[in-house]
Amino acid sequence: MRVLVIGSGAREHALCASLRQSDRLTYLACLPGNGGTAAIADNIPGDPMHFAACAEWAAAHGIDLVVVGPDDPLGGGIVDALQARGLRCLGPTQAAARIESSKVWAKEFMLRHGIPTAPAHIVTADSLEDAARALHAPGATYPLAVKADGLAAGKGVIIAHNAAEAENALREMIAGQRFGAAGTRVLLEDFMIGREVSVFALCDGTQYRILGTACDHKRAYDGDQGPNTGGMGAYAPADWLPPATLAEIERAVIAPAVAGMAEEGVPFVGFLFAGLMITPTGPKVVEFNARFGDPEAQVVLPLLASPFLDLCEAAADGTLAAQPELRWREGSACGVVLAAATYPTAGSKGAPITGLDDVDDDVLIFHAGTKLNGNRLETNGGRVLTVVGFGKDRAAARERAYANITRIHFDGARYRSDIGAQP
Ligand code: GLY
Repeated sequence: MRVLVIGSGAREHALCASLRQSDRLTYLACLPGNGGTAAIADNIPGDPMHFAACAEWAAAHGIDLVVVGPDDPLGGGIVDALQARGLRCLGPTQAAARIESSKVWAKEFMLRHGIPTAPAHIVTADSLEDAARALHAPGATYPLAVKADGLAAGKGVIIAHNAAEAENALREMIAGQRFGAAGTRVLLEDFMIGREVSVFALCDGTQYRILGTACDHKRAYDGDQGPNTGGMGAYAPADWLPPATLAEIERAVIAPAVAGMAEEGVPFVGFLFAGLMITPTGPKVVEFNARFGDPEAQVVLPLLASPFLDLCEAAADGTLAAQPELRWREGSACGVVLAAATYPTAGSKGAPITGLDDVDDDVLIFHAGTKLNGNRLETNGGRVLTVVGFGKDRAAARERAYANITRIHFDGARYRSDIGAQP
């Protein structure tokens, strides 16, 4: 089978590595890929946002399955464009990807299907002044999550600690167009207190399989300080999550989401990522994403022992029900992101990366902001590599990741030292 993966991050490197393990794979390409995918796939120059060109290339090269990684092309409709060329895809259509690309749509969808989530108000330009006044009313409670409706590169959520902060955020998003069209509608959502967990399900439109759980570390610096990032590291599984709570998440969140999308005529095919808060009153959805997480994919996928290509193909074909029960490897994975000093404000370009050959065989390195310049591997982005250690438990996995990350060097390299260190 000939497979094309769309994207250039460490998530896509992890997807490629898992697909590579199948004997049924005859050809693997990654568009555009990175310095790491170059070793296991053909990197195809191109822009994932140029849907017609992606479809043209895939059709011309006899691709049997396209697996789409990132949110922007999914939200923009790449799957619709690929399917229009007769290509088989693992990823949601533009209409189904609204579960991530429109927070307002997702909130209303959850309310329609009784999926537990925080109460929220929708604000538009027409209701801005009323909403701003209500923020100062005596009953208003803080903190409050102010969320831009659309995709905003992970920066569209502001936690306001008082009425003034909330009003500023609201006005900046709607009147100031801080996030462009993504902020023309805004959700004011009750702040949830609890512990966050991510749950991943592979979906075929009507059926799903839980692929695993993980915990991300979104802030830039140790102790959850500094600005939000795409994720500075993750561990899997979420070993503190009681099995009964995972069962409750499956019953109250994943199953009704998959059934609800099908019922509404927008069946979800692809990786459904539920970001949840485990609150004192049970699990509640913070957000859905229409794709695998990054860096979560780098720790969840290597623990999956079932044949990944078979699962991807079955999900794309709507035949997941015929797949055997999933199998996982024992133990835990801990992934630490090695980032540029300037991340998340800016990335690094052209700095030589050394030490990868000194990493132990039991440790995986997934590339993101890297590129080959001749034979020389260089930095090419903000999050440069994810270093993943494995062990019998989280502490052992963490020890392997940190014992190896210090062997890799580039100018300005930095990482959080507390990934997976929480009790
Ligand atoms: N790591 C969070 C995300 O992929 O959205």
